[in-house]
Amino acid sequence: MTLVEAVGLRRSFAHPSGDIEVLRGLELRVGAGELVTVSGRSGSGKSALLALLCGFDSPDSGCVLLDGVPISGAPPWHTCAVLPQALGLANELTIAENVALPLRLRSDVPRPSRSAIAARVTELLEELGIGELGDRYPLEVSFGQQQRVALARAVAGRPRVLLTDEPTAHLDAGSTPRVLRLLRRCAAEGAAVIVATHDEEVHRIADRRVRLLDGVLTALLD
Ligand SMILES: Nc1ncnc2c1ncn2[C@@H]1O[C@H](COP(=O)(O)OP(=O)(O)OP(=O)(O)O)[C@@H](O)[C@H]1O
Ligand SMILES: [Mg+2]
Repeated sequence: MTLVEAVGLRRSFAHPSGDIEVLRGLELRVGAGELVTVSGRSGSGKSALLALLCGFDSPDSGCVLLDGVPISGAPPWHTCAVLPQALGLANELTIAENVALPLRLRSDVPRPSRSAIAARVTELLEELGIGELGDRYPLEVSFGQQQRVALARAVAGRPRVLLTDEPTAHLDAGSTPRVLRLLRRCAAEGAAVIVATHDEEVHRIADRRVRLLDGVLTALLD
């Protein structure tokens, strides 16, 4: 079952030397429970694509469908959550508070109890090897640790669509397998998981690999 679909996405950006068309009629379909990795050289448009898929940005033409329905603006975080390349953590909140935020703000279901939220936060931080950092602030920990916090925040509410941008870019060898296990588990629990990455280790856990080249995606065979 296709959960998220990009149809004919076009996106140009204005630059002093002339507009550049980064996405040129891009097509993508990802099913529930599927993990797809997107490769492509730096500047090929991977982050631009993720911004369109989560509704942070709008295409010049084409559309993004969720369950067959075009999105307008950003879907709720429990539907589509993102680990952005620039992380976007709230520096005035502790790490535990950052991860808890989507659960505390969710309004469509009865809010989980404080203890249920705390248990979910602890579970994720421990799983990602940063269980001892919950009371610290983002700027008091390394960038690689911040990146795992942003991943925990993205998966905390078990989103139906999980978009992650270079989730292993700043990690040491010990942390990468933890992140890969978590991404696989999200897919096993039914999420459509899309991962932009340069990391060969991440491509190895994919159900399907695609490459962004000249504004469109092409399938990569193993
Ligand atoms: N908001 C913007 N304004 C102007 N140009 C932009 C904007 N966002 C992206 N671009 C341009 O679009 C192109 C693709 O950028 P993007 O960040 O998507 O690349 P990427 O594939 O994610 O690269 P990397 O692997 O380095 O993260 C680049 O040429 C970039 O300069
Ligand atoms: Mg990028």
